[in-house]
Amino acid sequence: MRPTLIKLFKPPFVPLVANSFTEAIGNTPLIRLKVSDKIGRNVYAKAEFMNPGGSIKDRAAKYVIEDAERKGLQPGGTIIEGTAGNTGIGLAHVCRSKGYKCVIYMPNTQAKSKMDTLRLLGAEVHPVPAVAYDNPENYNHKAKRHAESLENAVWTNQFDNIANRQSHIETTGPEIWAQLNGKVAGFTCSTGTGGTFAGITRYLKTISNNETKCVLADPPGSVVHSYIQSKGKDIVRGGSSFTEGIGQGRITENLKPDLELIDDSYKIPDEESIEMLYRLLDEEGIYVGGTSALNVVAAIKLAESLPEGSNVVTILADSCHKYSDRIFSKKWLESKGLLQAIPEHLLKYASLE
Ligand SMILES: Cc1ncc(COP(=O)(O)O)c(C=O)c1O
Repeated sequence: MRPTLIKLFKPPFVPLVANSFTEAIGNTPLIRLKVSDKIGRNVYAKAEFMNPGGSIKDRAAKYVIEDAERKGLQPGGTIIEGTAGNTGIGLAHVCRSKGYKCVIYMPNTQAKSKMDTLRLLGAEVHPVPAVAYDNPENYNHKAKRHAESLENAVWTNQFDNIANRQSHIETTGPEIWAQLNGKVAGFTCSTGTGGTFAGITRYLKTISNNETKCVLADPPGSVVHSYIQSKGKDIVRGGSSFTEGIGQGRITENLKPDLELIDDSYKIPDEESIEMLYRLLDEEGIYVGGTSALNVVAAIKLAESLPEGSNVVTILADSCHKYSDRIFSKKWLESKGLLQAIPEHLLKYASLE
């Protein structure tokens, strides 16, 4: 008998073949969130958790390592970075794929699971005392000195190396523009190094002739919102957030060149971000971390400020797997004063001790 099912099967999309891990980075889907129907504007979220290393930071990792190669890194060399999160994971993957050693410095206050993940990806991990950036013992400065002490080693310097931002000018921004056929009325996301927001903003502002409205979203505890609102005159410090990987105490070199392009900024309270994290799971089936939830809150706010039918884009930076033992623990939520922020009907998801 002829296998008719096979004969009739026509895949809607044939993915390109990637010859390596690094070639598989990017080209992530843009998901139209259901909340769009409620607000009469389209909120699109770029599914960066679908990158092969699991986050948006795979893109930056690839670009800063290729930048190191252009600066003379030779086969078998060492990549060194200060990072407590997704950048380290992205770097560790790309280093294995390209045959480099990977050394990561991070504050010793970070969860052991983060160190374990990096070690099992082949990285050498140095947990060091958590001190402020202006202290020479800060993990970033230690990473820099380590690279200077070795032959054929590069400190990739994700915060101030604009190869990070370039990855989004050359890949994430163009992907968004192409996915929506050039109809992008608004873009928003939060910043850690600033690479994602700045690179996408630079690309969208340029290609749209300044038409795309670009709004930076900031968590509590970050100075960037106050810097933007006061045009650099009034930097407000203090506060903290449950989100990890975003929020900044200074204006990085990745953000600096694009500051003048920013139309506005929003400060998003943790209560709204945590509620959105649970709502995304319940209403959309999307399981993402706190920064992605914050981004969606900001995207809805931006969309509501634009004409009906507008397309607004934001970023789903990573999935919730790394954070689930806290985010879905009633005890943890209570300790952070966030339990009351979860609506009654969503509490069933807070099923961990
Ligand atoms: C989960 C998550 N979201 C957002 C960001 C911020 O991205 P960027 O450093 O490009 O500003 C990071 C950075 O590490 C991250 O890990």
